[in-house]
Amino acid sequence: MVQLELVLAEVQASSELMDGDMSTTFGAGFHATPGKAVDASAYDRWTGRWSRLFIPAVLAAAAVGPKYRVLDVSTGTGEAARMALPLVGTEGVVVGADISPAMLTSARAGLHGSSFLPVAADGQALPFRDASFDAVVCQLGLQFFPDPAQGVREFRRVLRNSGRVAICAGVDGLSSPRFYGAPAS
Ligand SMILES: C[S@@+](CC[C@H](N)C(=O)[O-])C[C@H]1O[C@@H](n2cnc3c(N)ncnc32)[C@H](O)[C@@H]1O
Repeated sequence: MVQLELVLAEVQASSELMDGDMSTTFGAGFHATPGKAVDASAYDRWTGRWSRLFIPAVLAAAAVGPKYRVLDVSTGTGEAARMALPLVGTEGVVVGADISPAMLTSARAGLHGSSFLPVAADGQALPFRDASFDAVVCQLGLQFFPDPAQGVREFRRVLRNSGRVAICAGVDGLSSPRFYGAPAS
């Protein structure tokens, strides 16, 4: 917890500096300038290194286990998916959905050869049948949805009965696309 508080204080300070310096614009929830590739290593240094500190708690809250079909909404560069894969094992699958093809390209490259399936999708209109998944996680994505309640309804719809949804969402400065976007572009 102390480690997390220190990292958050550091990124908050950096975010305030960036507010004055940024000239790049991003659409709501997008972390890459249209047409440009995501620099996954920069994203990882900026966001991934502290984002992943929350993920064990998120996966535990969703009770992710062996053979599970897990949906990771707003998978980004695949941080939560990467940690879910060893939990589901070789008979499980982790689907990573994201609205940004550039982020998905980065996730696919990093998780190549595993049971990870990237899918381009808006979390508010998921292209999956009802009750398709044993668990749904959304790590630092819901705050970007124009209609987060619709997103949560979709998470519930694609979840099987008695499955679990776990969401970790940012507030205030941590919900700014510019905050996440600058190093990824
Ligand atoms: C801060 S990143 C989090 C990525 C990853 N889950 C992590 O923890 O590192 C937020 C992600 O949400 C995605 N996103 C934004 N709006 C979305 C939407 N409506 N549907 C799905 N994904 C969305 C962005 O493209 C981005 O990859």
